[in-house]
Amino acid sequence: MASGTRGVAAATISLAVLLLVFCFSPSTAAAAAVPSIDATWTRHLPLPRGLLRGPESVAFDAKGQGPYSGVSDGRVLKWNGDTLGWSTYTYNPDYSSEACTASLLRPETATEGHCGRPLGLRFHLKSGYLYIADAYKGLMRVAPGGGEATVLVTEVDGVPLRFTNGVDIDQVTGEVYFTDSSRNYNRSQHEMVTRTGDSTGRLLRYDPRTGKAVVLQADVTYPNGLAISADRTHLIISSTGPCKLLRYWIKGSKAGTMELFADLPGYPDNVRPDKKGRYWVALHREKAELPFGVDSHLLALRIDADGKIIEEMRGPKGVRPTEVVERKGGRLFMGSVELHYVSVVTRK
Ligand SMILES: *[C@@H]1O[C@H](CO)[C@@H](O)[C@H](O)[C@H]1NC(C)=O
Repeated sequence: MASGTRGVAAATISLAVLLLVFCFSPSTAAAAAVPSIDATWTRHLPLPRGLLRGPESVAFDAKGQGPYSGVSDGRVLKWNGDTLGWSTYTYNPDYSSEACTASLLRPETATEGHCGRPLGLRFHLKSGYLYIADAYKGLMRVAPGGGEATVLVTEVDGVPLRFTNGVDIDQVTGEVYFTDSSRNYNRSQHEMVTRTGDSTGRLLRYDPRTGKAVVLQADVTYPNGLAISADRTHLIISSTGPCKLLRYWIKGSKAGTMELFADLPGYPDNVRPDKKGRYWVALHREKAELPFGVDSHLLALRIDADGKIIEEMRGPKGVRPTEVVERKGGRLFMGSVELHYVSVVTRK
């Protein structure tokens, strides 16, 4: 027992060291003191009983209902308030509860390739369509009211999507921006994408008017979540392995080019606008995180339109958020690919 525990600890430390090596660069941003939100104690929106977990992305529809979140058995669930809890909203064409409900003998790691794994979610507010970046199924969409989703894109330029990850929408034109994190590794191998420095990810755009998808930028290092800027001139994209945010210009003199937007003190996942031209970026883990010491780490950062960190959220190391969305009244909804609930943090 004791030696087993030490083995695990040693493995964790070597992983931490490995992450240090692959993600080390001086970060001026980390040093600056900014206002901090304490997310040690949060309200939970617990997933239905069983082995279900991992509400990765948290989305709200045009009426402000939700959150909606994709979970480990391949479904997207909708939160209907404390009394009713979660209900099934949508699922991919291959989903069935018989084949996809996890059990002790059949963990989700054995079924997710077939059952799907919804990651990024985003509503097109005008049409009510929900777009889903499913790690294994590709880009999908479901009409208002939910039900079975339609698979829209499974390959672009003849190259199959292997690890569809983040999604955002130009709410005016309806164009959908999304990422494929790697040509070489699928979601279950996400640690390899970081470890090998894999730079075969792609930034893609789907046009709902033509039904076609195009590559905007190839050879990106672990592109993950993304968000379109408030003025719709550019995209902010997480590059997870190198702990950076990138900026891709859609319009203007730099259109079609990509540049560094910010160096981060941790591994970014989804990026969400805060409706004031700034962004919340969820961090999976800090760059230099050790598995001992004070049980507190960075959960998320608020970044302004110039790439500067202006606020942070901290909480227990066991919480590794994948998305943070700010709603009215200073409420922040936090998704995680590992936990059994969505957290609601209230800003004091
Ligand atoms: C991910 O890719 C590996 C290597 O090709 C494969 O062995 C594995 O089955 C894939 N995982 C899933 C869940 O599809």
